[in-house]
Amino acid sequence: MKRMDPFGRTIDYLRISVTDRCNERCLYCMPEGYKGWEQKPDHLSHAEILRVVRVAAGLGFRKFRLTGGEPLVRADLTDIVRGMAAISGVEHIGLSTNGTRLAALASSLRHAGVQTVNVSLDTLDPALYHRITGGDVHRVLAGIHAAVQAGFTCVKLNQVLMRGVNEQEIWPLVLFAAEYGLPLRLIELMPLTRTAVLTEKNFLSVGEAMTLLRQHDELIPQPDWRLGFGPARYYRLKRTGARVGFIGAMTNLHFCESCNKMRLTADGKIRPCLGDHGEIDLRATLRATADDAAVRDRFLLALQRKPFEHTFRGAYQPCRPMTAIGG
Ligand code: 5AD
Ligand code: SF4
Repeated sequence: MKRMDPFGRTIDYLRISVTDRCNERCLYCMPEGYKGWEQKPDHLSHAEILRVVRVAAGLGFRKFRLTGGEPLVRADLTDIVRGMAAISGVEHIGLSTNGTRLAALASSLRHAGVQTVNVSLDTLDPALYHRITGGDVHRVLAGIHAAVQAGFTCVKLNQVLMRGVNEQEIWPLVLFAAEYGLPLRLIELMPLTRTAVLTEKNFLSVGEAMTLLRQHDELIPQPDWRLGFGPARYYRLKRTGARVGFIGAMTNLHFCESCNKMRLTADGKIRPCLGDHGEIDLRATLRATADDAAVRDRFLLALQRKPFEHTFRGAYQPCRPMTAIGG
């Protein structure tokens, strides 16, 4: 059964944040850094997450993505995936990761049922990577290699665009992506948490990124490409053959028109839109009753409350970090 929101959009994609913890501290996300590995009691348990997925699948959700924080810091992630893959109606399980732990885990996650992986990679330069994330790019490159070897149906790279930080990294990343045959997505910086990098001065639009790329290659639009279920608009670069997607959440005024998703936060709230503070608590319901109908009602309420578009461009004040929302 298809579920529509009040604006006629089919919502069949749920992004699940399994933790707000992360082993990196990206400039635009979590500058305060690492908060320990132990699972917090306010986080949904393995069983609670599977229950939510079962209810969502019963409501017509077909595509699921595990995010964080960094989902791979959660010790029971592989078990969660295995449980999800066994639920009727779950057609697709994707994973968004910083890649640092993929070398160790790619193969078991693939076997458990993850189909596609998105890896954050803002630069190939080790010193700059360290400046942006606090981490070691070599671990991420080893992780990407392991993911390719593990046979996921698609491994994509994500670069968040920051003027004065990594715009000179766009072209090297395009060449890297072309060499390995992996799609690269360029993402506009969104005001998701209070960090020093989220200023107008640091903002680089996807339009400007295209202009930069046109100095090197010809961009051929691919309106028919749907590499996954996200909002990217894809182009093929004529000379290099690279597949590059542009995620213009801030400058593309039609960005929200084809929205197909909702989010589940690590502490059990349904977030109908990343860029809107509205949330519907699910955890209390999950812990108060064994009746799935009550959980289903909360989902339907969230669906009804899905806003027409995000409020990033208006009076949006960052409040809850993306790590807690599920990137
Ligand atoms: N703006 C844009 N993208 C962000 N991400 C994290 N924080 C932000 C932000 N403030 C990206 C990560 C990852 C994806 C899940 O979201 O780099 O690739
Ligand atoms: Fe961690 Fe991803 Fe946030 Fe970076 S963007 S700090 S890798 S959760």
